[in-house]
Parts: sequence; structure tokens; C-alpha cells
Amino acid sequence: MKNLSWGFILVVFSAFLLNLDAFELRKGQKTERISGSAGDVLEDDPVGRLKVFVYELPSKYNKKILQKDPRCLNHMFAAEIYMHRFLLSSPVRTLNPEEADWFYTPVYTTCDLTPNGLPLPFKSPRMMRSAIQLISSNWPYWNRTEGADHFFIVPHDFGACFHYQEEKAIERGILPLLQRATLVQTFGQKNHVCLKEGSITVPPYAPPQKMQSHLIPPSIPRSIFVYFRGLFYDVGNDPEGGYYARGARAAVWENFKDNPLFDISTEHPTTYYEDMQRAVFCLCPLGWAPWSPRLVEAVIFGCIPVIIADDIVLPFADAIPWEDIGVYVDEKDVPNLDTILTSIPTEVILRKQRLLANPSMKQAMLFPHPAQPGDAFHQILNGLARKLPHDKSVYLRKGEKVLNWTAGPVADLKPW
Ligand SMILES: *[C@@H]1O[C@H](CO)[C@@H](O)[C@H](O)[C@H]1NC(C)=O
Ligand SMILES: *[C@@H]1O[C@H](CO)[C@@H](O)[C@H](O)[C@H]1NC(C)=O
Repeated sequence: MKNLSWGFILVVFSAFLLNLDAFELRKGQKTERISGSAGDVLEDDPVGRLKVFVYELPSKYNKKILQKDPRCLNHMFAAEIYMHRFLLSSPVRTLNPEEADWFYTPVYTTCDLTPNGLPLPFKSPRMMRSAIQLISSNWPYWNRTEGADHFFIVPHDFGACFHYQEEKAIERGILPLLQRATLVQTFGQKNHVCLKEGSITVPPYAPPQKMQSHLIPPSIPRSIFVYFRGLFYDVGNDPEGGYYARGARAAVWENFKDNPLFDISTEHPTTYYEDMQRAVFCLCPLGWAPWSPRLVEAVIFGCIPVIIADDIVLPFADAIPWEDIGVYVDEKDVPNLDTILTSIPTEVILRKQRLLANPSMKQAMLFPHPAQPGDAFHQILNGLARKLPHDKSVYLRKGEKVLNWTAGPVADLKPW
């Protein structure tokens, strides 16, 4: 009985594939612009709309750290490094702080990797605090607003909460000294203490050249229905199970490991990027944090992202129409994933694929070096420009203090 019904679905699925090819041949149209504001916003040019002053810090806050561990350049948190390099030569940079709209502090707080490449943010709070102490005593601009016209790149799992475990991150909260600043971070989840109002959610860093080198001709059919590679359980850190990915990944495995429509496994093949280009849907479930580089990979490789992470705030959500490109599935609905995905009408799938094929969508997900118009750097600058002019209330009266320099865990107050 079970085999019979799968047989039926496979027949329907093959028909759908034929349909897809026919459609592409007939129409010859593979990309589509987003109508309305979204597509236009992505192509905005930030130059002339904001001026950024880059603080010059001793190299121990940035370059020396990178010299110690060059792996940071290819890590998913590398945006903090490339953002610095990019701003130094960007036309939005001003050398005159008096005319700056935004102040940027180049500090590589997440470049601290274990031998296995896991980033540990334990020193980040002290390092960040030390950098803020430095800029606030050497320049008058921090005290003027206590950081409200400053932005910081905090790409770690839970942003400026600086812990990789969610419970601990929540307990810590956003570093008190960053409470007025604008945070540019990968972490995005609604109603979460680690995402404050006004933050800019960005994609994680994924190596652009490497992805480019794995592109296959777009004419190759997408013969895989659902694709996923990654952990289902994290036995090392979650021995009892159920806590990792709030059980969503375990549910994917338990329900669909034998389902022929699902190409899922923990084995990471060398053809991973090619496989994504041969798949219709790519699962992007939460892990320890709601986001993962899969989202970027799915967009780049034109595989419809199936986002399984309740309340996630996706990168540049004010500019990218994620509902049109991807599919959202509630964590509790994972057991019905097969029905949910097979009942999406073909035209809807084709439209999502055409939108994904739009180069401006892909460009916004990447941090190429040197930077290019429309890339993630430019989207960050656009996001900052859209927040201007600053409200007058950000400027403090002379001598007025809002931040508490001694708040937070005592260990964070130790010198860095
Ligand atoms: C900013 O305020 C702090 C006290 O909160 C003070 O120590 C520091 O010198 C001030 N910076 C400048 C440039 O005046
Ligand atoms: C600042 O935080 C510390 C530690 O939580 C607290 O003891 C102190 O009272 C706070 N100061 C102010 C002015 O709120």
C-alpha cells in the first residue's frame, strides 16, 4: 500500500518535471523581477546617501587577530573582516568624522576558532568593551550618542549576546554597551532578546569564488525533489536528543529517511553544490541557531529554500521578498513536509525558480571581494542609509549618561 502510493507520487513528480522542461522551452524565460519596491530597493546605490567614519584601531583588534588565524577569512563569520576592508576603500567612507552619519569600529570579535574551526565568542565581550572604551576616550563621538550613531558587525550565532548556546545567550542578553548601537548580525528571530529593534539581519558569509566554480549549466534538470545534507542529531552536545534544532531535524530524518522524494543524509558529498543545482527544494532547517549557510547556498544555486525555523528573521527581509522565493514550514508541521511540498502547484514552483534566477537576489546574498554593486555590503549600507536621518533624541545632553558601564557578567569587565 505504502509503496503503491509512493509510486503514484513519483509518477506525478516525473510528469511535473516534464512539464517544467516544456515550460522552459516554451517560454524561454528564466528570470523574473519582483514587481513593486523589493527589486528596486535591492538595486539602490548607497553612494551619496550616507557617510561612514571608520575608527582607526590598533591592529590587535583586527589585523593581528586575522594573522594568527587566516581561517577566519573563509569562515561563515568572515563578513566582519570583509566589511572592514570594503569600507576602507568605499566612496561612502569619510575621513572627516564631523560629517559622518555613521561610525564604524573595526573589531574582529568572532575570529577566535578552535583547532576544529568552531568559533568561540568567550573573549568577544571583553574585546568589544575594550574597543568601545578606546573610541569613547579618544574621540568625542561615542559620548555624544552613547553609540546610537555607531554600527557594529556581530555575526556570531546569537549576535551580541556572545554565546553559542541559546539558553546562555538569552541569559547574557545583548552586551550592555551595545544597547544603543545598530547591530549588523546573522542572527534573526522575532521576539528574541538577542535581536533588538533596528538591527540589520545579514546572510552568513559563503565563499563566492568557490560557489562560482561549482556552477553547472542551468539546462540540467532538477531531478531531485527535496535535498538536505547535514546533522539530524547533535549527539555530542545534545545527548538526550530533541534540544538540537528543537527536534525539527530529527523529525525530518524520522519521517522521511525512506521516502524516495527526499534525498537527505548526514554525508557531505563533494558534489554538494552541484546537487543543490539539481534539486527543486533545499531544506533549510534551524540548527543551534535559526540560520545556516544553506539559505545562501539555496539562493545561489536556485534551489527553493524550505525554511523550517519558526519566527526567523531572514537577511535583508525589508528588501528581499522571502515569501515569494521560498517556502516556510512551521517546525510542528515537519511530519507533513511531503504533502506540503507535493501540493505546491507547478506554476508557483516555476515562479519561485524564476525569481531565484534573478541575479540581484543572488548578489545580495554574497560578500564578494572586491565588493560589487548590489552585493551584501551594499545592502547593509542601504539598510543604514534608510535609517537616516537620525532622530534628534539620539543626541544626549552634555554630561547625560544612559549606558551602565558596569552592568553584565562580572567576568566581562576584566580587561582584554
Ligand atoms: C566620555 O565619557 C567618559 C565617561 O563616561 C569619559 O571617561 C571620557 O573621557 C569621555 N570621552 C571624551 C572624549 O570626553
Ligand atoms: C549598573 O549595573 C550594576 C551591575 O548590575 C549595578 O550594580 C548598578 O547599580 C548599575 N548602575 C546604575 C546607575 O544603574
